[in-house]
Amino acid sequence: MKFDAPAGPNPVDRMKVVGQPLDRVDGPLKVTGRATYSHEQRAGIDRPAYGFVLGAGIGYGRIAAMDLAAARAAPGVLTIVTADSIGGPTVAGDFLIDRFLVGPQIDHYHQAIAVVVAETFEQARAATALIDVTYEAGDGSFDIKALSDTAPPCPPRPFTPPSHIEVGDFDAAMTEAEVTLDETYTTPDQTHAMMEPFATIAQWDGDRLTCWCQVQQLNWGLRDLAKILGIDKANIRLHSPFIGGSFGAKGTVLADCVLASLAARQSGRAVKLALHRALIFNNTNHRPATVQRIRLGATKDGRLTAIGHDSCCGNLPGGRPESAIGSTRLLYGSDTRRLTLRLARLDLAEAAAFRAPGEATGMMALEIAMDEMAEKLGLDPVEFRIRNDITSDPENQNRKFSSRNLVGCLLKGAEHFGWADRPARPATRRDGHWLTGYGTAAAIRGAPILKSAARVRLTADGRITVETDMTDVGTGSYTIVGQTAAEMMGLGIGDVTVRLGDSSFPESPGTGGQWGAPSVTSGVYAACVKLRDAVAQRLGINSPDVTFEDGHVIGAGRRVPIAEAAQDGDLVCEDEIFFGEFTQRYAHQTFGAHFVELGVHAATGEVRLRRMLAVCDAGRIFNPKAARSQVIGAQVMGAGAALMEDLSVDTTHGLFLNHDLGSYEVPVHADIAAQEVIFLEEPDPRHSPMKGKGVGELGMVGVAAAVANAIYNATGVRVRDYPITVDKYIDRMPQV
Ligand code: MOS
Repeated sequence: MKFDAPAGPNPVDRMKVVGQPLDRVDGPLKVTGRATYSHEQRAGIDRPAYGFVLGAGIGYGRIAAMDLAAARAAPGVLTIVTADSIGGPTVAGDFLIDRFLVGPQIDHYHQAIAVVVAETFEQARAATALIDVTYEAGDGSFDIKALSDTAPPCPPRPFTPPSHIEVGDFDAAMTEAEVTLDETYTTPDQTHAMMEPFATIAQWDGDRLTCWCQVQQLNWGLRDLAKILGIDKANIRLHSPFIGGSFGAKGTVLADCVLASLAARQSGRAVKLALHRALIFNNTNHRPATVQRIRLGATKDGRLTAIGHDSCCGNLPGGRPESAIGSTRLLYGSDTRRLTLRLARLDLAEAAAFRAPGEATGMMALEIAMDEMAEKLGLDPVEFRIRNDITSDPENQNRKFSSRNLVGCLLKGAEHFGWADRPARPATRRDGHWLTGYGTAAAIRGAPILKSAARVRLTADGRITVETDMTDVGTGSYTIVGQTAAEMMGLGIGDVTVRLGDSSFPESPGTGGQWGAPSVTSGVYAACVKLRDAVAQRLGINSPDVTFEDGHVIGAGRRVPIAEAAQDGDLVCEDEIFFGEFTQRYAHQTFGAHFVELGVHAATGEVRLRRMLAVCDAGRIFNPKAARSQVIGAQVMGAGAALMEDLSVDTTHGLFLNHDLGSYEVPVHADIAAQEVIFLEEPDPRHSPMKGKGVGELGMVGVAAAVANAIYNATGVRVRDYPITVDKYIDRMPQV
């Protein structure tokens, strides 16, 4: 099905199942331990051996010698996989550029240099400790702050805006502006810290490879694993039915999957391989630190005339940048703008996708700057943002938004939150020992929509089975896919079986970039349109206004149970939805507004979040309970970004030091007293037949700045260096 015009009325508009706050259909499996995660898989796996990974012990350099003799002789050891044993280091895939098994050249700390395969996990681990490596450390580059003045423009990269965007005469506008701001903001390296470690079971059958793994986008996983192993992707099958958290880290195959596959090939056994926790932080990928300079020019009455945003970060050679200027392109209007993206070479683990890549980071800077500018102008921060709202792309005025209600989010949020009660001047409100304050920030996040296929089957019991290679990272994919099929076929959610996470199923774009929910449900919609036609034809109901309701097909004066259509055999339909020129005509984005109230302890500087509110404009919401869960989770991550998350770099030896869940701090339940989410729920017929967009990553964008702005409102202290820890402002707090 081609989507090439605004969606008209369709069966999803009934919202009998879609749009309902249904519980997760996979919830009972998870809470009873019956959801099988990759490392737990048993069925179909023959006598697995265990792989244990040795990561490089230097940040950059080479292996001078590696003595495997003692490890080889250790009990239970079957084989040891090294770059030598496989004929050289592995090549990079297409999405990530890291090499997953190297030697002698080492690109970054904890990059894998050997995998020991043994009969048991303990034997593999013990033997790994016997490998004797002599390193020659090289002169690596590890300090982004030292490079931020000299880093060159970012070369063209996938998923990345141009490195220089210029509209109008920015320099002249800054000179002429009545009010200006020029500040630099910094964000730290961050790590996904998901619960489920990277783990794979790999098994070969002749030249055919099966992996039980965790991959958000199975189509990328197939493509990249085939390239790295040098085999045909038709010979690979990936199973990824459940993923225990990812947040961008598991977009494609990583070291665990590649190394398990190599180890299984070399040992002739199925191999189970998990990256242990201390290895994950430096072996896999992370969000890179940024240094961002924001320049704003405005008229006295609060109209922006110039927007400048320069962002610098680092990555391994060939890697992508954190696209922190992306959201600045489409959020506020101004006659002139200069947006630049620079990328330094760093020899740390790969920087890649992380929780609203680019946008969350860029808005951590821009939305503090907007708060600072509002104060300079003597304007309320909500009003200042509303005055600079736009209706089309500032770089191309002919390109309108498919839908945009940023102003509605700000106004609704302000009213609901009681924004009018905000202390007008900072550091003026006290509640016992606590200085209290309010903060706000806007949110914008891209709403990509991608081609997606599904297969639907009607069986004689009147049930539907849906199959697509979509994945569920804990966000509710199983549920919304089931809701879509149930709505389309006039059934209940309990009448639908959803099968996901198998690369042999019809191809979806998977989970990522906030495109999953609208794309995959639209693919299911397309397949169901075909199935509806097939059912009506089988039943001989040839009426243009046939309806599917309560398990029946109604039309041409008849009302027939849908099950009858499958009495002589299953009805199976498959289709793909795809998007072309019509979709490209519009800017597809989601919008939001965040509000935060917090207290800062007057003596100790400790921050306590009292209330958080997110108002989201993301079109139709497919499942308000699942969507709310995503957004409150995103608020928690935004609070973490504001106050604690910080992957600490040892700039001498070139590694992230706090590489465990004990020392990489994230918020816990007790850190945030109350969270609330409001959806504006305005269907967007120009986006897809489902008329709804992704919302999970939107929930993350702007949150950290809202927290930062509330700290300023409470204390009068501005911190421009995340995370906002007590050491960065205690000396500037009001005297007690
Ligand atoms: Mo998301 S960080 O685009 O998986």
